[in-house]
Amino acid sequence: MTDHPPFYDDLPGCLAEAWLRLGEGVAQRRGAFHTPALATTGRDGAPRLRTVVLRGADAAARSLRFHCDARSDKAREIARDPRVALHAYDAGAKIQLRVEGAATLHGDDAVAEAAWAASLPMSRVGYATAPAPGTPIPAGDAYALPGDAAQAQGGRAHFRAVVVAVARLEFLYLARAGHRRALFTWEAGAAGATWLAP
Ligand SMILES: Cc1cc2nc3c(=O)[nH]c(=O)nc-3n(C[C@H](O)[C@H](O)[C@H](O)COP(=O)(O)O)c2cc1C
Repeated sequence: MTDHPPFYDDLPGCLAEAWLRLGEGVAQRRGAFHTPALATTGRDGAPRLRTVVLRGADAAARSLRFHCDARSDKAREIARDPRVALHAYDAGAKIQLRVEGAATLHGDDAVAEAAWAASLPMSRVGYATAPAPGTPIPAGDAYALPGDAAQAQGGRAHFRAVVVAVARLEFLYLARAGHRRALFTWEAGAAGATWLAP
């Protein structure tokens, strides 16, 4: 008999497992859920995808948090259309998570302040790069990083904490005996949960 994980045929268990994995993703730098892919919609309507570091996962608030530079394309795209998707797959756990929701950019409020305060110096330096991220430059090294902590503090103005209010979460667990796919939604104020054919 195959040993299935406790969430295998337990719908609420799959949701709990998803939030557990997301929480581990925040805490464990080498975990697969530490670096999900973030999808936004470009100005031209085409999908845009890149890796971000998962900085916060709050099951009770049903929110995820990552950080970015206000000057980046992703920040501009979120400001224009807050609908985002995040994806990660943990090959060891055989779990894929797909999350969708509305993102909010925080620059000068308590959310941003707490996130900046908790950021390591090595994470802060990126926000003070010149020229702005995504600017074409004549050579690979034709950009400047802050030289010291005081200069790195200059990046604070560019720092954005992005909070995603999770509206859909899809959980997929791969198993030889039969995959398990579950969808959780919190749309229009109502919570939904259902198994899906994998
Ligand atoms: C492992 C890894 C982690 C990254 N984490 C972040 C992040 O937390 N925030 C961010 O803005 N960019 C992060 N990046 C860089 C983005 O993937 C992307 O290349 C860059 O931000 C430009 O994206 P944009 O032009 O779509 O804004 C990370 C890249 C890698 C490879």
